[in-house]
Amino acid sequence: MVARTMDELVSLCKRRGFIYQSNDIYGGIKGLYDYGPMGVELKNNLKQSWWKSMIYERDDIEGLDASILTAPDVLKHSGHEDTFTDPLVDCKSCKSRWRADQLENKSCPSCKSNDLTESRPFNLMFKTAIGPVDDGSSFAYLRPETAQQIFTNFKNILTSTNKTIPFGIAQIGKSFRNEITPRNFIFRVREFEQMELEFFVEPGEDATWHKYWIDSRYNWWINQGIDKKNLEFLDVEKSELPHYSKATIDIIYTFPHGKEELEGIANRTDFDLGSHTKNQEEFDIKAKVMKNDKSTTKLAVHNLENNTWTIPFVIEPSAGVDRGFLAILNEAYKEEKIDDKNSRILLALKPHLSPIKAAVIPLKKNNEELVNHAKTIKSNLQLLGMGRVMFENSGNIGKNYRRHDEIGTPLCITVDFETLEDQTVTVRDRDTMKQQRLGPEALIKYYQKYFE
Ligand code: GAP
Repeated sequence: MVARTMDELVSLCKRRGFIYQSNDIYGGIKGLYDYGPMGVELKNNLKQSWWKSMIYERDDIEGLDASILTAPDVLKHSGHEDTFTDPLVDCKSCKSRWRADQLENKSCPSCKSNDLTESRPFNLMFKTAIGPVDDGSSFAYLRPETAQQIFTNFKNILTSTNKTIPFGIAQIGKSFRNEITPRNFIFRVREFEQMELEFFVEPGEDATWHKYWIDSRYNWWINQGIDKKNLEFLDVEKSELPHYSKATIDIIYTFPHGKEELEGIANRTDFDLGSHTKNQEEFDIKAKVMKNDKSTTKLAVHNLENNTWTIPFVIEPSAGVDRGFLAILNEAYKEEKIDDKNSRILLALKPHLSPIKAAVIPLKKNNEELVNHAKTIKSNLQLLGMGRVMFENSGNIGKNYRRHDEIGTPLCITVDFETLEDQTVTVRDRDTMKQQRLGPEALIKYYQKYFE
C-alpha cells in the first residue's frame, strides 16, 4: 500500500463532505475544523465504538458528560494554571510567534532569521468571562482535558452507583488548547475531542492495570481498522512526563506527516484525587500535591474491613477523537486500478465506522414505481438500527458507485425494472465490486449479518 499524503486526505474530506475549514467564508481560523455530513457520522461511529467498549461491554465503568466551562480552582489544583505551558519565542524580524521546541536550527520558519527572543512559558488554556460583567473578576476556563471533571465528580459517581475499586469513569467531549502553532490538518488543533477513561485502582495494583490498559487500547485501535505495522509504543522518558504522571506509554501512529501520538496511557498515581480532596493531611498521599483548603469533599474510598480511607491511584487511557479519525481515514484510503483505463478511490472503512451503511438507488431517477420501491427498502433497512441508510435519487448508477466508494459505503442496493417483477434487487459490495441479486428476505438477512 502506498502511503497517503495529507493533501489527498484533505482533498477527499472537502470533496465528499467529511471536514471543512471552520469559519471558511470569513477567511477561516487556524486550528479549527468543522465536520460535515459524512464526517459527523464517521466521528459519531468512532465515539460510539469507544463508548460501547468502555461502558456497554463491561460493568466496571460508568459514563459522564460534564460541563466544559471549568472553575479556576479546579485547574489551579490540577496543576494546569502553573504548568500547562509550551515554550514560546517571538521572531524579532517578522514578528511571528513559534513553539521553541519545534524550531529547526533555532531559526524562524517564516523568514529564517536567527534573531529570536528568549523562550518563555505560554499557558495554553482559553479563558472566558462568567456572568454579565466582564471585568476579569469572574471567569472560567474552557477545559484543556476532559479528565478534571471526572475527578471532581468522583464522589458523586461513587456514591450514586455503589461502585467499589477497581472501577472507571469514562467521558467523551470537547477540549480546548490555544496551541501556538496548530498544524497537520486535524492532528493538532485548538478545539478537539477526547475520549478519556480514568480507572481507579488500589495503590500497588497500578502497574498491573497500566499494562492491562495499554494492551486493551492497542487492540481496540486494531479493531477500528488500524494496521499493526503502523502502530508502536513509546515509553515516555521521565524528563518528558507530564507533572501528574509516574509513567506514560504513548501509542504512536504513522500519520501521513510522520510518527506521532495517537493516545497516551498514563499512570497518574494519586495526584488528581490527592490534589482535589479536602483534608489532605488525613491521607498518605504519594504524589506531590499543592495544599488545598478550598475543596469541600473527601475524595477517597472507605475500606470497611479495616475501617481505613484510601485515595486510589488512577490509570488514564486518553485518546484524541480527531487524531483517531485521521488515522482511520489514512488506513482506509485506497486507490485501485479497475482496468487498463480506469481507477477508483475507495475508503475501505470497517463497516461499523462507515458513515452510510447502504445506499438504495432507483435505476431511473424520476420513475415513480422505482422511487417508491427504493424508499420502502430504505425505510425497512433504516428500522434495523445499524446506522444511516441513504436513499439516492440522482439517477446515474456509475456516479453513485464512485461517490459511495469514496465515502466508504459498504453496500449499494439498486432497484431496477426486474425488481418490480420479482422483488429482487442488485447488491454491490464496495470492496470486491461483486454484485448479487437478492429477494426481500435474503436482503434483510444479508444486511443484518453484514453489520452485526
Ligand atoms: N488527560 C490527559 C491528556 O489530555 P494529552 O496527551 O495532552 O493527555 C491526550 O492528550 C490525547 O488528546 C492525545 O493523545 C491526542 O490524541 C489528543 N490531543 C491532545 N492535544 C491535541 C490537539 N491540540 N489537537 C488534537 N488532538 C489533541
